[in-house]
Amino acid sequence: LKKIQVAIDGPASAGKSTVAKLVANNFSYVYCDTGAMYRSITLKAMRLGYNLSDEIRVVEMLKDTDISFEPNAEQQKVFLDGQEVTNEIRQEDVTNSVSEIASLSGVRFDLVKRQQQIASNGGIVMDGRDIGTTVLPNAEVKIFLIASVQERAERRLKDNAEKNIHVPLDQLKKEIEDRDYKDSHRQISPLVKADDAIEIDTTSMSISDVVNEISKIIKNNG
Ligand code: C5P
Repeated sequence: LKKIQVAIDGPASAGKSTVAKLVANNFSYVYCDTGAMYRSITLKAMRLGYNLSDEIRVVEMLKDTDISFEPNAEQQKVFLDGQEVTNEIRQEDVTNSVSEIASLSGVRFDLVKRQQQIASNGGIVMDGRDIGTTVLPNAEVKIFLIASVQERAERRLKDNAEKNIHVPLDQLKKEIEDRDYKDSHRQISPLVKADDAIEIDTTSMSISDVVNEISKIIKNNG
């Protein structure tokens, strides 16, 4: 069976990473969470006290920044310069600052190259915002996952509770809307559905329903 490229894009908290990981497992494909890459460099720049819109400095920083993933059944571990940052990159301060760094063209140029390298042999499920449009425009399967803001905020509330993070639902809704607005309105590769992507509204679907639907699409394309 040919090992294809699967691109999964969509707005914040639409369940992309949960679903992408399970789909990758189904086919023994590699899973790559590109949001974790943008989050990791945001964390590093914040720790260094950089101004997040200082493109020259941030791009310079990327030259000696290593981001790697360790696959793990439950949760994929993320390493920044050899140090685990899996939980740190999900903190509220990183989440609410990442769109700023992600709008810098030099940053996108660098990370997109890394992502294309990771996907070059196929057998990959990659999730993000611009995978179907920019990173893997020739991906055999492109999925665009959406869900209502209310549903996405409720899912995030549940996730947060497990991590002992407590932010009220209304604030989560506002943060999700703000991030979607920034990601959809930036100049370089904004969040947009690729013309040839299949849109799936997950608002009233279970995780396994979504995984099964995408798996079916992959089988029909493989
Ligand atoms: O997917 P996740 O919510 O972890 O992504 C965090 C942020 O990283 C997004 O809000 C967006 O600003 C940025 N991002 C991006 N392009 C991608 C993946 C993520 O700009 N391919």
